[in-house]
Amino acid sequence: MAEKITAPIIREKHSKGEKIVCITAYDAIFGRMADAAGADLVLVGDSLGNVVLGYTSTLPVTLDDMISHTRSTRHGVKRAMFVADLPFGTYQASVEQAVLSAAALAKVGAEGVKMEGEYNDQITAIVKSGVPVMGHLGMTPQSVNVFGGFRVQGRGESGQAMLDSALRVQDAGAFSIVLELIPAELAQRITESLEIPTIGIGAGIHCSGQVQVIHDVLGLNPKPMKHARRYASGYEVFVEALKQYSDDVRSESFPSDENSF
Ligand code: KIV
Repeated sequence: MAEKITAPIIREKHSKGEKIVCITAYDAIFGRMADAAGADLVLVGDSLGNVVLGYTSTLPVTLDDMISHTRSTRHGVKRAMFVADLPFGTYQASVEQAVLSAAALAKVGAEGVKMEGEYNDQITAIVKSGVPVMGHLGMTPQSVNVFGGFRVQGRGESGQAMLDSALRVQDAGAFSIVLELIPAELAQRITESLEIPTIGIGAGIHCSGQVQVIHDVLGLNPKPMKHARRYASGYEVFVEALKQYSDDVRSESFPSDENSF
């Protein structure tokens, strides 16, 4: 097996100018596929809520949901650094709450946690407790109701404030920062101002790496997203396979002798 990826190796790759590849996964089979494809980071995102659990936002996702899916995905991920999201309401209230929530994810195998926004005391305390932290700025989905929808953040003067936030998140001890749905030019400015890597999603080509939701990359989401590229027509391929199975059951061509005992 190739070298196990850890937070120091992510830093080393970044210092060599290598792009960092991050893919989300929510269970063992998708985690195994992301790992087999050579992802540097596999993230159990709280996008779990939208992508797998059928919610319209990430807000209902609980720490128990994240623990369960992190435990499952852990079984599939051997090489990539394995990070899990702290869901809404599990770190904002206090440093103590954040450290305990991060520990709960670390106990089921997370090698790092990601948290949205500027909870810098929490970041420092979680890192001190032994768990690497990934920051997340820009269109942070847990704040969708503050933003009034999923829209590009950091346009105009608010761009400088985001850059200042990124510097503070870095100073707090984060090993990388996700930049979501921000102008490419701002992401470039932030990336050039930081020592730690930026991992973009809808943030242009100049980030130190990219993260994508695995269902978008595989085309399992029938609705194409502007910030994503479909590398397979997964939805169409699987629906076709299921239709074929249904036809075979109805025409009695499945199961055949081969499938029988
Ligand atoms: O929850 C998630 O999947 C994420 C990534 C898209 C960055 O936060």
